[in-house]
Amino acid sequence: MGLDVNIDEKKVPEYILPDPLTCLDGTRVSSKTLWFEKREPEILDLFERYIYGKMPGKPEKMSFEITSIDKNALKGKATRKEVSVVMENSQSTLQMEILIYIPNFHPKPVANFLALNFYGNHSIHQDPNITLSKQWVPKRKAYGIRKNQATENSRGVLSYRWPIELIIDRGYALSTIYCGDLDPDFDDGFQNGVHPLFYKKGQTKPAADEWGTIGAWAWGLRRAMDYFEVDNNIDNNRVIVMGFSRLGKAALWAGAIDKRFALVISNNSGCGGAALYRRKFGETISHINNQFPHWFCENFKQFIDKEDELPVDQHMLISLIAPRPVYIASAEKDLWSDPRGEFLSAKYADPVYKMLGTTGLQVDEMPKTHRPILSAIGYHIREGVHEVLKYDWERYLDFADYH
Ligand code: GCU
Repeated sequence: MGLDVNIDEKKVPEYILPDPLTCLDGTRVSSKTLWFEKREPEILDLFERYIYGKMPGKPEKMSFEITSIDKNALKGKATRKEVSVVMENSQSTLQMEILIYIPNFHPKPVANFLALNFYGNHSIHQDPNITLSKQWVPKRKAYGIRKNQATENSRGVLSYRWPIELIIDRGYALSTIYCGDLDPDFDDGFQNGVHPLFYKKGQTKPAADEWGTIGAWAWGLRRAMDYFEVDNNIDNNRVIVMGFSRLGKAALWAGAIDKRFALVISNNSGCGGAALYRRKFGETISHINNQFPHWFCENFKQFIDKEDELPVDQHMLISLIAPRPVYIASAEKDLWSDPRGEFLSAKYADPVYKMLGTTGLQVDEMPKTHRPILSAIGYHIREGVHEVLKYDWERYLDFADYH
């Protein structure tokens, strides 16, 4: 863990969470109409203004090109294709590559898992025909990366996180995008990546209430959704946005802001994801902004060591997904992400889910290890560390089947 953080439950301070069902002006929300017309937009606005920053809409021009297709992937079980999404504004262009696996032996259109990846699309499977990313990638010798560039040795290095065959056998498509296509994960003052595409004349960095890197990643997930809407093999009413860790933060934000995502999955997303800030357990607003100053909007830094002054906490991010199903997954040894804080977000989002007529979260207490909860809000904690493993994916598939 390295940094000095609290991982002692007894040292969690007392805190009062803002109530998702009470508006800023004190109005109690007791009807769906009031939720959707007043409180939900108000909460969304607070998250935009103070945490993730406002993101722009679609670029002026956007085109999709299928750059490769293999109908015989995974020994004939799947069709693998790559789609280039080219986005243009008057200033510049940006290209993002979506790698898609579609099951061959299941009726179309199929439900589709969409998840960003950390090291390039080629890292999720050994297949030599997947285009090797030419983007900047973080240094990592063990992943065959040289001078921030992927090499042939980088293929499939993270395949253990992506049980593609299992997903295909269960009748789901899987789509992935390298997060660095949207914004490489380092603090460069927002000169590379998607941000410059939207700068106004003379603007050189996002304003204090505008998007950072997590916002850019979430924006890319939304642009992938634009593509799925024109792909006949994909059921765009059943697109599941999933993410692990920093990319889980992006998945939750994308799911909260864009109702086209039918189901949202957070795998060990921690601080700035599913975990509650006010517990100050594991990573805090201070640590995350110091280590990753580019992830959130500039305004978020005002809340360093002032979590109680935030008008929201992360249970309210979960409530923005309501009534759509959301699944939160923790890992026992992932204390940096505060497993209990992740569970409590689910628990405190439950009143919104119930008010909207769903099953909410069907437990009050944190379940034991390997006892997944399936209700409108799903949850599990597994043994082990900060990772995304086959156990997690099996639960997500069960949750998607259940809904
Ligand atoms: C760091 C960071 C976390 C993040 C994690 C990851 O540990 O502090 O907030 O979730 O990286 O993305 O793996």
